[in-house]
Amino acid sequence: MVLADQTDSIPAAAEERAHEHYAAKRTDTVIQTTRVKSVQIELADALDRYETWAAPTVIIADGPYGLGLFPGDPPTPADLAEWYAPHIAAWARYSLPETTLWFWGNEIGWATVHPVLSLHGWQYRALHIWDKGIGHIAGNVNSKTIRRFPVVTEVCAQYVREALLPTGDGQKLPIRDWLRAEWVRTGMPFSKTNEACGVKNAATRKYFTQDHLWYFPPPEMMERLAAYANAHGRATGWHYFSLDGQSPVTAEQWEHMRAKWHHTHGITNVWSEPPIRGQERLKDGDAKCLHANQKPLRLFERIINASSDPGDVVWEPFGGLCSAAVAALRTGRLCYSSEINPAYYPLARDRVLQEASTLFAPQEPMQMATFAESNNTVGGNSAKTTTRMKSIASRRNRERKTTLSVAQSDIWDSLDQEQ
Ligand SMILES: C[S@@+](CC[C@H](N)C(=O)[O-])C[C@H]1O[C@@H](n2cnc3c(N)ncnc32)[C@H](O)[C@@H]1O
Repeated sequence: MVLADQTDSIPAAAEERAHEHYAAKRTDTVIQTTRVKSVQIELADALDRYETWAAPTVIIADGPYGLGLFPGDPPTPADLAEWYAPHIAAWARYSLPETTLWFWGNEIGWATVHPVLSLHGWQYRALHIWDKGIGHIAGNVNSKTIRRFPVVTEVCAQYVREALLPTGDGQKLPIRDWLRAEWVRTGMPFSKTNEACGVKNAATRKYFTQDHLWYFPPPEMMERLAAYANAHGRATGWHYFSLDGQSPVTAEQWEHMRAKWHHTHGITNVWSEPPIRGQERLKDGDAKCLHANQKPLRLFERIINASSDPGDVVWEPFGGLCSAAVAALRTGRLCYSSEINPAYYPLARDRVLQEASTLFAPQEPMQMATFAESNNTVGGNSAKTTTRMKSIASRRNRERKTTLSVAQSDIWDSLDQEQ
């Protein structure tokens, strides 16, 4: 099983330029790591860390906007595509078929980066508008100088991956085509798919149709189709509906074959949410905002809940004040965050520690480890936690390559045992 990618069509020179461009901006930051409960945040360049993180179910990418908002944010959107290219390539490399990417930005920044996302096999699903409301500009608009309507929105684009599955005749096909090709290989008419599923005509109408009414077969139906095909199809050296040729796909494997989605009625792609105020907004002693781009936890919790389950892994490559890590703690997910700026990292670390102590104390002792990897000052619990998280990451990434996914609860259990 592989994931759809079109990177062959990216001109090599453009890729090289992107890497050079990015390499020139890299800092020599000493990596520091803080782990608390199921969350790990690092003072690091995300590009250096992806390969060490467990494969994600959710990626929340809230990076540069091309507005010069924080150190490292390019002053215009023109450079954003090149800036993001190596990150996007890495997200594609380490993702699962169940992964959803939530890409934040402003309209022009997202539009500029979209072709790169697309080239790396990220399939566009929807654009969400964060409407901050009129309060966002109250008292801030000079009608004498402004030459457009005031902007009170940001956007969050949702992307998913498409799994390419192997057929018995050596092809790799998207799920919909794979279903048809595998059934054709059995030599049986499509009408038999209804018998396989125990329905009158729903299987042909839904799972094998070639029009827009196509449905992803639910896991139990997929198992029935595979069992029927293997029992009644003509003899073959490669099992029907199999990921490895040896055995038919199981309901559990099938469940992880597309991006997760938990629907909530009443929520649309317009998110009316005021900018953060009150206690949630982190401020310094002079009441100045600590980070210009802090995002509302409510929105991060919404996208995490919609696209993952408790125990799943969230990536937050561009941490800022690590709002995704906080949202992950609140929703029972694992999270890997990185923040490159040494001024922001301690603020994020304190915030995450504070959140964990509110959520888990005093009943449960808190697991916390802070160390600098560069000089190996890893000791006691920290060393144990590091080894454990690293082995979880490499196991999950290994499984990503060989099978399809992992039992997410295993990871959660492993972490619990460690505490
Ligand atoms: C838009 S802000 C994120 C705000 C965050 N969502 C929050 O709610 O606090 C983007 C952050 O990404 C950080 N950043 C930029 N490039 C990075 C990189 N290569 N690795 C890690 N962090 C990076 C910036 O320093 C900045 O703090």
